[in-house]
Order: sequence, then structure tokens, then C-alpha cells
Amino acid sequence: MWDDRYGEEGYAYGKGPNDFIRDQAHAFTPGARILCLASGEGRNAVYLATRGYRVTAVDLSVVGLEKTRLLASENGVEVHTIHADLASFDLGEAIWDGVTSVFAHVPPAVRSALHARVVRGLKPGGILLLEAYTPAHLDLPGRGGPPPHATQVFMTAEGLEQELAGLSFDLIRETQRTLREGRYHEGLSGVVQVVARKPMQ
Ligand SMILES: C[S@@+](CC[C@H](N)C(=O)[O-])C[C@H]1O[C@@H](n2cnc3c(N)ncnc32)[C@H](O)[C@@H]1O
Repeated sequence: MWDDRYGEEGYAYGKGPNDFIRDQAHAFTPGARILCLASGEGRNAVYLATRGYRVTAVDLSVVGLEKTRLLASENGVEVHTIHADLASFDLGEAIWDGVTSVFAHVPPAVRSALHARVVRGLKPGGILLLEAYTPAHLDLPGRGGPPPHATQVFMTAEGLEQELAGLSFDLIRETQRTLREGRYHEGLSGVVQVVARKPMQ
């Protein structure tokens, strides 16, 4: 499904970064080593690389990763790409200064295990930036997000607080905002946004 979508003309979610990532990227320390989860066609990974961060992008879609490398080259930056399934991807222990997760909707068992690995993989002081659709999105007019029947893959602030236990939250909120991200994310949408930090021991 994702290879088909990314095989279409242009960039499905645009070439520019997600607004939340752009607005919160200052939370990362200069030169930070950042992992972009479910990075798609690389709009956020490439944006962060242009800001001087050392970026690794991981996704299941080979086509998305190819387009990431193309977008990086267009922008004169490098992004290290990894083809992997987040169900089994090993983030290691205390090696990332930052992690991004933007609309990374996976089944709940995969998600909770992944989030535990995110907590483990962040260095002390490391930052997670996450934005995802909430169930409230289903009552809003915005286009995009998981199919309505896939209720369990939406995220909530309450669920994320539990799954990300071990991080402290600078920001965690459910909100509505207007997305303008290419063909597939458009209009008033329900999202949860997180800025979380791994405490210095
Ligand atoms: C809605 S797109 C978001 C892409 C990107 N984060 C962005 O905002 O432009 C969801 C992405 O999750 C990826 N994905 C879904 N399940 C995955 C899995 N199990 N492992 C790795 N990537 C996955 C898809 O390939 C797709 O690129």
C-alpha cells in the first residue's frame, strides 16, 4: 500500500516538513543525532538534515526511502536510510539525541513495544517529538489518517503517557488543527502532540 502511494507522481505529504516538527525542532540540541520513525518520503528527515542534524530515516517502504534519498540530494544534504519493520526494529540503547514519530500508526501491540524501545533508545536528555491522529479526528472534516474501522491505531494522550513511561513531558495535548500536507492530509484534523524528554539520570 505505501509503495503504491509513494509510487504516484510527486510527494504524497509534500516536500516540506510537518508543521509540528518545524515548530518544535528547536528542542533538539545542535548537531543532534536524530532517528525519524516511519519516515515516509522523507520530508521531515530532510528538513532536519538541512538544519544541521545527523538524521537516520527508517520506514517499511522501499519507494519512500528512495524518494527520501532523492529529496536529500535535491537539498544538498545526507540522510541515512534504513529499510525495516518497526515491529522488530532495534533502536539500541541510549544512542539517539532525538526521535521523531509523525503519523506512525501501527497496531497497538507493535506501538507499545516500539514506544518502550524509543524510551530505551534515547540518550539521557534526548527528545521525542510525536504527532498522530486521535479518535476525535473521525468526527472532523479533515482528509487523512487511518481508516475509520482501524480504531485501535489512533493514539491518545492518555495512552501515550502510559506507553512512554520513563520520559517526562514538556508538552502532551490532544488538539485540532488544520493540516495542509500534500494530497492526503488536508483540513481540520484531530491530533495528539508530544514533546517528551528522557531525564538525565
Ligand atoms: C502516514 S505515513 C507518514 C509518513 C511520514 N512520517 C510523514 O509524515 O510524511 C505512515 C508511514 O508509516 C510507515 N509504516 C507503516 N507501518 C510500518 C512499519 N510496521 N514499519 C515501518 N514503517 C511503517 C509507512 O510506510 C508510511 O511511510
